Order: sequence, then structure tokens, then C-alpha cells
Amino acid sequence: MFASLKSIGAYVPKNILTNQDLEKMVDTSDEWIKKRTGIEIRHIADKDEATSDLAYKAAKIAIKRAKIDKNEIDAIILATISPDYFCMPSTACLVADKLGITNVMAFDISAACSGFVYSLSIAKSFIESGLKKNVLVIGAEKLSSITNYHDRTTCVIFGDGAGAALISATENKEEAIMDVMASSDGKYADLLITPGGGSRYPTNEETLKNEMHFMKMAGNETFKIAVKTLTEDVIEILKRNHLTSDDVDRFIPHQANYRIIEYVRNKLDFPKERTVLTVAKYGNTSSASIPMAINDAYENGNLKYGDLMLLDTFGGGLTWGSALVKFAMKK
Ligand code: UT7
Repeated sequence: MFASLKSIGAYVPKNILTNQDLEKMVDTSDEWIKKRTGIEIRHIADKDEATSDLAYKAAKIAIKRAKIDKNEIDAIILATISPDYFCMPSTACLVADKLGITNVMAFDISAACSGFVYSLSIAKSFIESGLKKNVLVIGAEKLSSITNYHDRTTCVIFGDGAGAALISATENKEEAIMDVMASSDGKYADLLITPGGGSRYPTNEETLKNEMHFMKMAGNETFKIAVKTLTEDVIEILKRNHLTSDDVDRFIPHQANYRIIEYVRNKLDFPKERTVLTVAKYGNTSSASIPMAINDAYENGNLKYGDLMLLDTFGGGLTWGSALVKFAMKK
């Protein structure tokens, strides 16, 4: 039995935060943001919209496109660093309820920007072992809820959104998720961190005053490790599957920074026309970045049944991963 990506869906909140808006909020400029990140706009959820609302809307599209009965879904895995509630209940349980699916295994995973690729790895194992048949995998973030809009080193980068994919059992090897690699190195934990609110620094007046409940990032150090790791990952996954970049129809990297993507693309000799780029219009949406990019490629006619996608990701933890996935959604 193989695991197959049978459908994709995404939801992008309507509100737009432009570089010009940010110029009025912090000491930055449209020119700096575009030159250093490639980001032009990012989407921001409404005040009364939580991560589960974004995830639900993306999931509904993915389920509809998969043409299956929602009750056939036997697991929901949701990757996020901005859950509706701290600790419990999981956002996956809330999404299951919104979808009207009961009696289903549902849980969140925490792997930051690598969350979607990590979830694919779990879904693949569940299906190949025969444990599950239809796994809904979601990457969803309301990063605006943990972004400090006084900190120019982070607030220009992040945006909100959600992407969802249905991963189903198939006997057709041509439709398979061929391989997933997922890894981490916790010695770099401090590079991308939300320090307050956990058991290390439980929320109190001091943590709030010091704004420890917001994301913090050592951008430049992260950048250097990101380009190296993303490149090495691709080389390894292609090598162990006896493939070259010529065999890949769509390179779909984590959309953190245009310069990072360009560095990796040039190192690996991937043509730009086969690389999916959404960073300019969505910014960095962490775990939602890759499924949103897959959805974007599909909706723009740049992805068709049978195409081989190479996913490549990197994020807080530090975590990273890559995947070789056939796009198996039929019209
Ligand atoms: O998704 C998870 C993984 N995350 C990433 O992969 C993110 C990786 N990092 C990055 O994308 C980049 O490092 C950033 C976009 C965050 C920053 O770009 P950079 O080219 O690495 O800039 P830098 O941190 O080296 O800072 C250069 C200068 C500094 O000023 P001085 O010290 O040279 O005077 C910063 O204070 O740019 C300044 N700066 C800004 N200036 C205007 C930092 N942020 C801003 C800003 N606007 N928003």
C-alpha cells in the first residue's frame, strides 16, 4: 500500500498588510523589505478568526476536491505554532468538530515551518502500515497573534494562512509519496523562539512586560543555516531516490525569504519556471507555507496530475525536511 496526496486546498485571509503599512508601524522601508526578503504583502486574519477557522476553510476545499465523504477521514494531523489554545484542546480537535467529524484521531504537531513535511511523514507511515486510510494533513497559522508589531526584525516577515491536503491509501505506485526526510537539531533552539508562556517561563507580569509571548528570531544566523540545510536536504533526497533535479516537475520550497530560495535554486540548478514562488504575496506562513504554495501552483495551472513535486523546508527547532511527492489530484 502507498500513501498518496489526493487533494489540496488553501485559505488566505482577506485583510492585506502592505510594506507601506509597515513603514508606518516600525522603522523600515518597502525597499528594504523587498530587497532583503522579496515580500510585498502578507495576509492577516480578522480579530475573531483563529487558526482553526483558517484551517477549517482550507480543509473543506481539500475534502471537496478529494471527492470523498468526510466520514471516511480516519486521522487529522494539524501542524501549527499558533494554536487556538495554549496546551489544550488541540486545534486539530477543533477543526474536526467544525468539519462535523466525530470519533476520529486528531492531534497537533509542533515542528514550526517544517510542520507540514513532518505531518506528511506521519501520514505516510500511518497509511503504509495499514493503520489509516485517509489522513487529513493541515498546516495552519495565525502568526499575527504571536508577532510583535514593534519588532521590525520579525513583523515584516510573517503572515497568516492555511493549507490542507488529503493523504489517502492507493495501490498505484505512480501516485505515491515517494520519500520524506525529517530532522532537527535542538542546539539551535534559541535562534527561533517564543520564550514566554511555557513551563520555562510561565506567563506573569514580567514575561508580558518583556514581550516574551512574541516570536523572536536571530534572522541572519538562521539564514546561514537555512541555505546550507535546504541545499543539503535536496541533494540527499534526490540521491537516495536515484533522481536528479531534471526529474522534478515542481520545486516547492518553504517560502521564508526570496533570497534563500534563490540561493538554493541556483546551487541546485533548478530553473525558475519550475520553482513555485509565493513569498511576495503571502510572506512567511510557517507550517502553512508549503501547502499554500502547492495550492497556488495548482490553481494557477502550474501543477497537474502526475507531476513530481520536491518539497524542501526549514524552521524553528531547528527542524528541516524534504519530500518527493507525486501530485495525485484528479480534476
Ligand atoms: O521560516 C523559518 C526560518 N526563517 C528564516 O529562514 C528566516 C531567515 N532570515 C532572513 O530571512 C533574514 O535574515 C532577515 C530577512 C530576517 C533579515 O535579513 P538580513 O539580510 O539577514 O539582515 P540582518 O539581520 O543582517 O540585518 C541587516 C541590517 C541591520 O542593521 P545594521 O545593524 O546593519 O545597522 C538590521 O537592524 O538591517 C536591519 N534591519 C532592518 N532594516 C529595515 C533588520 N530588519 C529590518 C527591517 N527594516 N525590517
